[in-house]
Amino acid sequence: MSDIFQFNGAAGSGWSQPEPILMDAVETVPESLRRTNLPEWPRASEPELVRHYTWLSQRNFGIDTGFYPLGSCTMKHNPRINERIVQLPGIDRIHPLQPEHQIQGLLAIFYEMQNMLEICSGMDQVTLQPVAGAQGEFTAIRCIQEYHRSNGENHRDKVIVPDSAHGTNPASAAMCGYDIVEIPSGEDGRINLDALRAAVGEDTAAMMITNPSTLGIFEPEIAEAAEIVHTAGGQMYYDGANFNAILGKTDPGRMGFDAVHYNLHKTFSQPHGGGGPGSGPIGVKSHLAAYLPSPLVDRESVEDGGATGDGYRYFWRTPDKTIGKVQQWHGNAGAVVRAWAFYRRYGRELELMSEHAVLNANYLRHRIMNPDSSTLERIPAMPVDGAPAEVVKHEFTLSMQPLKETTGVTGKDIAKRLLDYGYMSPTLYFPMIVPECLMIEPTETESREVLDKFAEDFLAVLAEDAEIVTTAPHNTDVRRVDEVWAARNLILRHPGSE
Ligand SMILES: Cc1ncc(COP(=O)(O)O)c(C=O)c1O
Repeated sequence: MSDIFQFNGAAGSGWSQPEPILMDAVETVPESLRRTNLPEWPRASEPELVRHYTWLSQRNFGIDTGFYPLGSCTMKHNPRINERIVQLPGIDRIHPLQPEHQIQGLLAIFYEMQNMLEICSGMDQVTLQPVAGAQGEFTAIRCIQEYHRSNGENHRDKVIVPDSAHGTNPASAAMCGYDIVEIPSGEDGRINLDALRAAVGEDTAAMMITNPSTLGIFEPEIAEAAEIVHTAGGQMYYDGANFNAILGKTDPGRMGFDAVHYNLHKTFSQPHGGGGPGSGPIGVKSHLAAYLPSPLVDRESVEDGGATGDGYRYFWRTPDKTIGKVQQWHGNAGAVVRAWAFYRRYGRELELMSEHAVLNANYLRHRIMNPDSSTLERIPAMPVDGAPAEVVKHEFTLSMQPLKETTGVTGKDIAKRLLDYGYMSPTLYFPMIVPECLMIEPTETESREVLDKFAEDFLAVLAEDAEIVTTAPHNTDVRRVDEVWAARNLILRHPGSE
């Protein structure tokens, strides 16, 4: 693979480094720590540089390139207006250490975002500090842990998760030192209340659950589950990664939850993928608010109208029994501002977003599961619906097990072959309770034409010769990679660097 270090200045250099201004300071670095050789920086001319990065960008697949049905990741369009707003000088050119009176505008946005998230989740206080869903989970479980400790309930050392849970749920609880109790889902893929009753006890600290679940189905007995856990003295944690299905329709507060995280980078359109940047705010009911990480944004009325003219002065506040900081500065400010812009743009129409997300998922599921008879004749084995429910929410799962048994073609083969057709592959082998699982989430920002074409291509792949599918992808820059090798043998430095 070609990289930026291939350029050596033969075509001239687009830019040269200025001499260090603080030569005196350089002199103070101890001799033993100084470089003996000059670093070998790449030296590219401007056209070389532009071509290089354009070439790199074209080797990548993103939501701006094509349909990205990666289940549980909510890869929706990122409106460009959000980028314009986040680049306004009053937002883009400020430093996190600037005094409060100089950043009243940003603090007002933070405050409003906290408030809007409180309203749509039915929680009493939100913090914007965590920068990923998983970090939000960890933060909220730490607050729950401190709450139990301050009630003298140190013995509560177990967190319950259903077997359909996202892997980050048990991982976050384990990082807080909890033991994990996994409960099996019922035959309909939903939470099994009898299994829950058998699992709760005096040692239950919390239950973590996603609703709609990772099978894309809503848990109608969620209030009963909350009552079972609360009666045992535990707390209810709502994994809000699937908020795209319920926003404006219902909220975790109403379902009986005590804490929730949001994935702003999913539901609220912050660009993500490739590891970030994300934002995973959490909301809690009032009994947990004192433990939230510091600082939060608060406000007080002022007579002179305040710097933003809305009658308030905004300031950072540290909750009384805070668990401390979970992130440097104040979280991912840019991600919060983009999400705020998205939220303000939708306003009260936010529930339309969820309606369309659910409609699109059900439409695509129907198109795939009900091909016309001539297509069906060519498919050796149809997938099994992973969610035995009439209607799903924002995503659905398909099991490729029958295809594997009939032809040897696996879910992974289908996922790889879809790359050849110009799609990102669906989420693979998750949730683990569905054998040979593909998880598909179209989001609300795709048109009916895109969904029709994807269904047609998906069915075409199912009907293809096994040899073509099992050796896919054929048209991508990189063919099949050995993911296990890549994960076990991390190469984190440029091969040329020492
Ligand atoms: C259901 C669910 N919970 C939690 C997470 C974790 O979120 P993040 O990737 O932002 O850490 C994800 C991410 O895919 C998810 O799908």
